[in-house]
Amino acid sequence: MIVRDILNEATRTFEAAGIPSARLDAEVLLSFALGREKLEFLKNPEKIINEEQLSFYRKFIVRRLQGEPVAYITGFKNFWTFTLKVNKDVLIPRPDTEIIVEEAIDVAKKYTSSQIKILDIGTGSGAIAIALADELPKTNITATDISKAALNLAQKNAENLGFKERIDFRQGDLFEPVDDTFDIIVCNPPYISTGDYEALPSGVKNYEPAVALLAGMEGTEFYERLICQAKNHLEKNGWLLMEIGAKQEQSVYKVFGQSGFYESVETRKDYAGWPRVVKARRK
Ligand SMILES: C[S@@+](CC[C@H](N)C(=O)[O-])C[C@H]1O[C@@H](n2cnc3c(N)ncnc32)[C@H](O)[C@@H]1O
Repeated sequence: MIVRDILNEATRTFEAAGIPSARLDAEVLLSFALGREKLEFLKNPEKIINEEQLSFYRKFIVRRLQGEPVAYITGFKNFWTFTLKVNKDVLIPRPDTEIIVEEAIDVAKKYTSSQIKILDIGTGSGAIAIALADELPKTNITATDISKAALNLAQKNAENLGFKERIDFRQGDLFEPVDDTFDIIVCNPPYISTGDYEALPSGVKNYEPAVALLAGMEGTEFYERLICQAKNHLEKNGWLLMEIGAKQEQSVYKVFGQSGFYESVETRKDYAGWPRVVKARRK
């Protein structure tokens, strides 16, 4: 079979199964099966695909049809300016999470010294910590996660991308593994309520780790704990930045208000216009 026909066939199959990014998924999986850059084979639609490559590709198509996300099939996901290894131990980093990276860089650049201390809680694949290490070369970065398996992968990613020496990885529940104070604390915590979890697309619910998603009956369990505990780990005038779910802004503001330890609470919307990051300064 030639590239054009196999791509068209896979796209139609994905469309029929209701997969929204049918063409893109077909292309990404084909480039993975061929071990080539996407552009290379898109420029040669008449190129013949051999039986072995076709058999790989068909296996990937079946996995995708069963609901497995493309990033878990290929084992890679692009984030910020680099490519991360991902597996079922970590949440697949979302493009929306780049907003918290942008905000953290913005906050960091307002400091007169560039040698500030940053903590990334629930680092998962290491996405946020590695992006910050890359963009803020003089900062001192600590990254934690409760999942040992996630931390192993985050460390591997940091090593592959040349940031092994820049990030101190520690395992534990929220602030448990750190006794230090920080200028900036960033966190993209689990924020799905138990009710919403059931309604998640099967590709998320059946494949991504529940520990990365579930946050109690209201989905706000982690915000309450983070806001309360962060006050003991922030320098005076230090910043706490948290990614939030689209409908959680009010609850998060309420918790900040009740705490009494923070000021300058602000929201940054994502490019679709939804509240995505809330930041606040320790008084
Ligand atoms: C939504 S994911 C975010 C992963 C990554 N930071 C990102 O943005 O792609 C939440 C992460 O928090 C971790 N986590 C869950 N409960 C935790 C806890 N109690 N303490 C520390 N990390 C936790 C999960 O293992 C997961 O890696």
